[in-house]
Amino acid sequence: MDLPWAEPYKIKMTEEIRISSREERERWIEEAGFNLFNLESDKVFIDLLTDSGTGAMSDKQWSEMMIGDESYAGSRSYTKLKNAVNEILGFPYVLPTHQGRAAENVLFSVIVKAGDVVPGNSHFDTTKGHIEFRKASAIDCTIDEAFIIDHIHPFKGNIDLEKLEQVYKTHPKEKIPLCLITVTCNSSGGQPVSMANIKAVKSLSDQYGVPVFFDAARFAENAYFIKEREEGYKDKSVKEIVKEMFSYGEGFTMSAKKNGLVNIGGLLAFRNEELYRNCGNMGIIYEGYLTYGGLAGRDLGALAEGLNESTEYNFQKARIGQVEYLGNKLIEYGIPVQRPIGGHAVFVDALSFLPHIPQSEYPAQLIGVELYKEGGVRGVEIGTLLADRDPVTREERFPKMELLRLAIPQRTYTFRHMDYIAAALKNVFDRRDEIKSGLEIVWQAEILRHFTVKLRKKTH
Ligand code: F0G
Repeated sequence: MDLPWAEPYKIKMTEEIRISSREERERWIEEAGFNLFNLESDKVFIDLLTDSGTGAMSDKQWSEMMIGDESYAGSRSYTKLKNAVNEILGFPYVLPTHQGRAAENVLFSVIVKAGDVVPGNSHFDTTKGHIEFRKASAIDCTIDEAFIIDHIHPFKGNIDLEKLEQVYKTHPKEKIPLCLITVTCNSSGGQPVSMANIKAVKSLSDQYGVPVFFDAARFAENAYFIKEREEGYKDKSVKEIVKEMFSYGEGFTMSAKKNGLVNIGGLLAFRNEELYRNCGNMGIIYEGYLTYGGLAGRDLGALAEGLNESTEYNFQKARIGQVEYLGNKLIEYGIPVQRPIGGHAVFVDALSFLPHIPQSEYPAQLIGVELYKEGGVRGVEIGTLLADRDPVTREERFPKMELLRLAIPQRTYTFRHMDYIAAALKNVFDRRDEIKSGLEIVWQAEILRHFTVKLRKKTH
């Protein structure tokens, strides 16, 4: 018989997680204003709020923590990181930052001006925030198939070249400082971008003189999907694919808290020395000196090793395999989820799960609350609460997809945890008809309301 694949590591240290009772959880979530962000982590059994900064480091990464060089300038740990970025991602100039949004802040401070447009594939919230904060606009050019929740397409993160060319034709070159490719595309469900699409975006952008950058938070997962799904890449290593992907870009911003396998950190990298110098000045103001950028020397060393580990095929096979396992379990139970299953998370389709609850009563949040009460599992709403109100009219904005994201931290939970999550969600699904009404807002902040919103059960 063929041997199944298994994780290429064993566990050296464990962390206790607290099992609670349903009665406790019902009280806690009510006290938290039915907002999962308001829960203390000790009140959560399995935490799927995010895969960002929540993974487990390896013994080699912990060794880097011990030998970290804390020199203010020219630290050995920085040299290690710079060499890893040179070798694995192929960029000569490297600036560390304290996390991904800080890298966005530094780069966009230098190249994005009021009135500019930044096309790309479903920009992440902080990316869009940093663009809009500068009175520029992010234009979503993701292919339409990405928004059909169960439409099977191997590269749902792809950029629609016609949409992109339309942007290039209708705006002068000076108003388009960059085109941003997010790999994998978090906002459209952790979906990958194909190498063919990256190449085509690069060649179209070259024609119009627009530089291509990557948002590289989950670059290694993207490379794994290319190996598995794209013709001509089966026999290439994940590392070779990563090198080729980035060969089509001028640089990248990265939240290192995902595929960098560290708990905190970000990166900026460039091909062009002048841009590196300009961003370096901005980095010094916001982040710290060029060779540490808001991180400790030990963080830089751990990140260098993390980049190496996450670009190993067997690592990604186990990582993405675990996410897929959970997704397939949910499909087996008849629970509507986004297809294909994304790289870092499973996205539950709330509009099919609770068709009788209108979007104005936050059905994805409601499923999140019910899942927490059922099993102490914490997901995150990617729906109407997150979409927030229109900045001008202040009317509610109802997104095309109303989702509950179950993000799986890397190397953190076991397959038995996946079975537990699936069983808890199945129980909620089996009693969905008993869920008669949704939630309503008691208090909300002016912007980014989902983090702090307070809700209550709606009584009809
Ligand atoms: N880009 C992408 C694609 C992301 O997913 C994130 C963060 C960022 C940039 C910002 O990075 O958090 O290090 O400042 N995503 C997290 C998530 C928060 O849960 O998906 P950061």
